Amino acid sequence: MFSRRLAAGLQPNRLALAVDQARVAGRLRIDLTTTNPTAVGLPYPAGMTTALADARGLVYEPAPFGTAEARAAVAAFTGLPADRLVLTASTSEAYGFLFKLLCDPGDAILAPRPSYPLFDLLSALEGVELTAYRLDADGGWCIDRSSLERALSSRTRAVIVVSPNNPTGSRLRAADREWLVDLARRYRLALVSDEVFADYLFADRPDAASLAGESRVLTFTLGGLSKAVGLPQMKLAWTGISGPDDDVREALARLEIIADSYLSVAAPVQVAAGRLLEAGAAVRRSIRLRLERNLQALRAVVAAMPALTLYEPEGGWSAVVRVPAIRSEEEWVIGLLDEYGVLVHPGWFFDLDTGTHLVVSLLPPPETFDAGVRSIADAAARWGA
Ligand SMILES: Cc1ncc(COP(=O)(O)O)c(C=O)c1O
Repeated sequence: MFSRRLAAGLQPNRLALAVDQARVAGRLRIDLTTTNPTAVGLPYPAGMTTALADARGLVYEPAPFGTAEARAAVAAFTGLPADRLVLTASTSEAYGFLFKLLCDPGDAILAPRPSYPLFDLLSALEGVELTAYRLDADGGWCIDRSSLERALSSRTRAVIVVSPNNPTGSRLRAADREWLVDLARRYRLALVSDEVFADYLFADRPDAASLAGESRVLTFTLGGLSKAVGLPQMKLAWTGISGPDDDVREALARLEIIADSYLSVAAPVQVAAGRLLEAGAAVRRSIRLRLERNLQALRAVVAAMPALTLYEPEGGWSAVVRVPAIRSEEEWVIGLLDEYGVLVHPGWFFDLDTGTHLVVSLLPPPETFDAGVRSIADAAARWGA
């Protein structure tokens, strides 16, 4: 009766069951997997949402790419031209639009590994094949070019780049951007650059690069309120389209039909977009301070425990810690949950497939974060590392 877009037998795995049980029994004390900025005690400016009550939100003005006012607000924030912006309810929806735009069922998209786990589902839901290309851990998670070349096929339509990447925090290098642009031109591929974490950078990297506004190949650059101002519940994201004029024109004409079939961005958030982006500067600052503070605390714990290794993130909201292979990742996670009430992600959740890794969010409140990472160090010592 059902399509094969979703795998048969949607049974929760052992880890999901253990987490559910710990939650029900009240044993889960410290959640280091949370990436919900509205649930970690950050201050949001009073009055930030008053514009949502603007009476203009009562008027329905269907606009496939978003209202002129909202696009102008996003253009002012991103520096991307308003007439080359498409607003969607989320970045996830933007991926759906792009896969419909670029792929026939069975066509393929290349995505980095390790990276954001939702890509698997987002592509499967569009009938699109997701093929992984590797990021090179030893090279600071830069693109493994030979792996990307091997992943190419006659059905490949686009390459996704995530910068900063989730969970490694690594950024696209300028040299890799040049290489990618050249490859995309040769094979007539589009580039999809997920830059949702671009506002959260930890260090200057002169060799890092953005694809926003890239004019040599058809390029889609994604961002949204979710990360830019810590408001995922507002449901407003954007895609900037750039490239050779003919390709951009054609892409916009087709995207207009796709977007017009959904018209999913609510009027109130479009009316409020300018105000949310403006007031959001304070939220962004608080998030940045929180990330830097927690990263510093993590560095200190790892420095005192030689068995742990931190992959220094260059940006983003998470960090990858290499732990000794005295247990499997799943045993580490379940052990931390059972013995310490601490929840972390196993590396495999993000397709980190060599070595034993745990992934922690850098967003939790400081006391929670510190207690959580101290538990990881304590477990490493107790379990014989
Ligand atoms: C790399 C990446 N892209 C996109 C998103 C989702 O953003 P949105 O809330 O706009 O769908 C996330 C969420 O964590 C992410 O990590």
